[in-house]
Amino acid sequence: MSDLFADAVETLAKAKKTVALTGAGISVESGIPPFRGKGGLWEKLDPMKYAHIDAFLEDPETVWNVLIKEMKMVLDKARPNTAHIGLADLERMGILQTVITQNVDGLHQRAGNSDVIEFHGSFAWQRCQTCDWTIETSRVDLSEIPPRCRCGGILRPDCIFFGEMIPHDALLRSQQISAACDVMLVVGTSATVQPAASMPFIARDNGAVVIEINPEPTSLTRRISNLPLLGAAGTILPRLVKAMRRHQNA
Ligand code: APR
Repeated sequence: MSDLFADAVETLAKAKKTVALTGAGISVESGIPPFRGKGGLWEKLDPMKYAHIDAFLEDPETVWNVLIKEMKMVLDKARPNTAHIGLADLERMGILQTVITQNVDGLHQRAGNSDVIEFHGSFAWQRCQTCDWTIETSRVDLSEIPPRCRCGGILRPDCIFFGEMIPHDALLRSQQISAACDVMLVVGTSATVQPAASMPFIARDNGAVVIEINPEPTSLTRRISNLPLLGAAGTILPRLVKAMRRHQNA
């Protein structure tokens, strides 16, 4: 066991309030490509052309055909992987309280975490751009693109496009929880998109220890990660759970 890994086990064992901040990387091993880096979605598509609210309002049919239908196909097939299950195990062991996720795939809830803040919304729902009516994505008739609401308005995923505000309650609660935690587990995020990327800084500024799990160094690694664990979340998290179980039974 490396010193950093052993320190992470000790830190988590002593922690009173642990929160996780997750990004697309935790779902890579569920078959959902990340946005940046190797195989990233934004290497293929220009996010400003397909994932910005102005692009959607200008040409919803193209955004549905190029981005949203593809996301639905990938997310419909995805299942929680050993990393999601590892975070759910940490909650069941009384170690992890809350997951703040930038992901819209719902895999943390399906793995069993009971307190998940969906910082960028949820793809499980579609919302009418005109009247805010919502319907489960699984029930939307995709024979007509873009799909429409009963009011005639256009439906869109209940997720945040670039250029849109973070849901107020998600932002406020995430900031409060980040300021109050004594350990933040940062898993699978490039920490490039604000305001989600400010959560580790809020945690650190309030004295928390930041444990980062990522196969690559990020802008956080050299600046604020106390314990950078380099590797895939699907490998490191189950190992952390196993070591925590041994620690709890010692
Ligand atoms: N385990 C852990 N981390 C991984 C793995 C893995 N198996 N595979 C890749 N990663 C890491 C990458 O090294 C990268 O640092 O996951 C990170 C993915 O970064 P991004 O694709 O930028 O995803 P994220 O940080 O969640 O993006 C934030 O940007 O486009 C918007 O709304 C979108 O929520 C998203 C936001």
